[in-house]
Amino acid sequence: MKIDGCNVLVTGGASFIGSHLVDALIERGARVRVADNLSSGSLANLGRRPVDGSVEFIECDLREPNAARAAVDGRQLIFHLAADHGGRGYVDTHQAGPASNLALDGLVFREAVRAGVEKVVYASSGCVYPNRIQGDADEELFLTEEMVRPPYDADNLYGWAKLMAELTLRAYHAEFGLNAACCRYFTVYGPRAKENLAVLAMIARAFIGEKPFEIWGDGRQVRNFTHVDDIVSGTIAAAEKIDDATPVNLGTMERIRVREAAEMVLEMTGHDTEIVTRPEMPTGPVNRVADNRLAKELLGWQPQVAFREGLRRTIDWYYATKNREKVRQVLKRGALLERGPAR
Ligand SMILES: NC(=O)c1ccc[n+]([C@@H]2O[C@H](COP(=O)([O-])OP(=O)(O)OC[C@H]3O[C@@H](n4cnc5c(N)ncnc54)[C@H](O)[C@@H]3O)[C@@H](O)[C@H]2O)c1
Repeated sequence: MKIDGCNVLVTGGASFIGSHLVDALIERGARVRVADNLSSGSLANLGRRPVDGSVEFIECDLREPNAARAAVDGRQLIFHLAADHGGRGYVDTHQAGPASNLALDGLVFREAVRAGVEKVVYASSGCVYPNRIQGDADEELFLTEEMVRPPYDADNLYGWAKLMAELTLRAYHAEFGLNAACCRYFTVYGPRAKENLAVLAMIARAFIGEKPFEIWGDGRQVRNFTHVDDIVSGTIAAAEKIDDATPVNLGTMERIRVREAAEMVLEMTGHDTEIVTRPEMPTGPVNRVADNRLAKELLGWQPQVAFREGLRRTIDWYYATKNREKVRQVLKRGALLERGPAR
């Protein structure tokens, strides 16, 4: 599908990832509408776009049938990113909010069929992978797409809702002819992300000079932190190349332990202190890293931003834009367990 000249809807387009996607779509010549209720997204992420007319912005709750209908109307392509979602602290400790994604996704997909939308691209997640296979931090495990199969064992209600959306799109493609692509994002970071995501929490702690420096879990958890620029390019490639709702992993294959990431943050920021672990805090599965060969094969995509480089850029952005007193308040008020209200 061609992006240039296409009428696009980005749900959740005022979010961290959504706003970067909007920028890239506009650069490629799309006509972009954003629908967002600003529950965790922020208008600031869209800069002057809603004012200068480069984006049509609709503030609405897409769980309302009329709002979903109005947002979808007249669109050829939908990137569906709106979700009740936060960092690990939120996903582990809140089930009711993420459960509402079942209604949100269902409505958006149904309206897409009704309106004759050509394709839906869905922001899925590594949280669809079975918890039971991600329990050994020492295993050299790379998650391949077909590992998501019965018996399903998704990560909290957030992960179950992502999984149900993927399965719904597969069924809608088969039975209603709706074209779709599902992108499984893995631990995304970069400019505009909030402190409730692990990498940003680390940068924030260094920024305010936290001593000792706290990490959640024992620090041995393995992740593949993936830069938002790579997520955006993979999502657009999926829109161009996948029609049959095949899910693809968008993640690097760099295996990084949380403790190593923290050490890099300390080194790059010049913050010299001891690291302390908080094993009682939420960590999620201890071993979650994508295998990205399918995305290479189907999309010709591969991540371009190595973690060290992406971390450097994210630290530079954070230090250039944040205020220490405000960041102290954010960390103090327990925001790491919440969605992080728009600010
Ligand atoms: N950040 C990650 O590491 C990651 C990993 C996997 C998947 N994802 C998915 O990527 C998408 C974007 O996530 P993000 O991290 O950029 O930020 P986010 O979770 O804050 O983005 C969600 C956006 O949807 C909006 N929204 C929520 N409920 C809504 C509703 N009912 N109606 C209208 N708008 C609503 C929010 O205001 C926000 O702008 C989400 O679907 C998320 O689940 C993110």
